[in-house]
Amino acid sequence: MAKILGGIATSHIPAIGMAMDKQLEQTPYWKAFFESYPPIREWLNAQAPDIAIIFYNDHGLEFFHDKKPTFAIGAAPEYHNADEGWGIQPIPPVTGETELSWHIINELIAAEFDITVCQEMRVDHGLTVPLTLMWPGHQYGHVKVIPIAINCERHPMPTPARCFKLGQAVGAAVHSYTGSEKVIIMGTGGLSHQLDGERAGFINKPFDLYCMDKIVHEPEALTRLSIHDLVREAGAQGVELNMWLAMRGALEGGVLTELHRSYHLPISNTGAGVQLLAMNEG
Ligand code: DHB
Ligand code: FE
Repeated sequence: MAKILGGIATSHIPAIGMAMDKQLEQTPYWKAFFESYPPIREWLNAQAPDIAIIFYNDHGLEFFHDKKPTFAIGAAPEYHNADEGWGIQPIPPVTGETELSWHIINELIAAEFDITVCQEMRVDHGLTVPLTLMWPGHQYGHVKVIPIAINCERHPMPTPARCFKLGQAVGAAVHSYTGSEKVIIMGTGGLSHQLDGERAGFINKPFDLYCMDKIVHEPEALTRLSIHDLVREAGAQGVELNMWLAMRGALEGGVLTELHRSYHLPISNTGAGVQLLAMNEG
């Protein structure tokens, strides 16, 4: 049985990738933000996961508004970065994973999650910035990644409850896999932010802190929210909380210990959060 070690949720703001590439971590703007990450890196190095299942959203690079799967999963040997803006340096490809990925695909379809299967897929900052945060210097090549994209760009979007259930189904699939791999689950994006329109720049700190509280032991409080609740409370892009909920769903059935939590505001336009939940499968 493959083992789930725990889950990590983190914002994936593109400016973080730029700051790391330009080595701005110690500058006044970034220092406190980057100080949140070493404890998580230490935990990862000690746990040595083989596979990272990453719930993220594709911001229009691979799936534009004309063709937008609600849920999509990668089953490719390798993923290339195709990020926008910022002039990020070319970065090494992300190592893929296919065996567990196909097992998850089969289990998800059997569980009535009609996910789009991608044997080729470009990935953007929603996936590569968190990987680089966990393994600085783009040293993530040893970890096999299974990307799972959730539509947060065009309405209609899947509900928080549905994303939580997707995570539960992914967690169940990992538990029914006969391999002995160690797996971490990541959820990227959020917390509150709105990048355009009349409320551009909107951030809701009390709501973000509420979400970080509830996600640990009472995620049901968040799964009762609608997409419109999320847009109102967390801004149009605050819907990215859905990836945190999918991550949390995959940790159902174990005993969770919150090992780390940080929140900084603003980073670029966003309330930036990071949280580490270790799982004891009992
Ligand atoms: C920002 C945040 C995001 O989640 C994103 O995808 C793009 C930009 C920002 O705050 O700049
Ligand atoms: Fe985003």
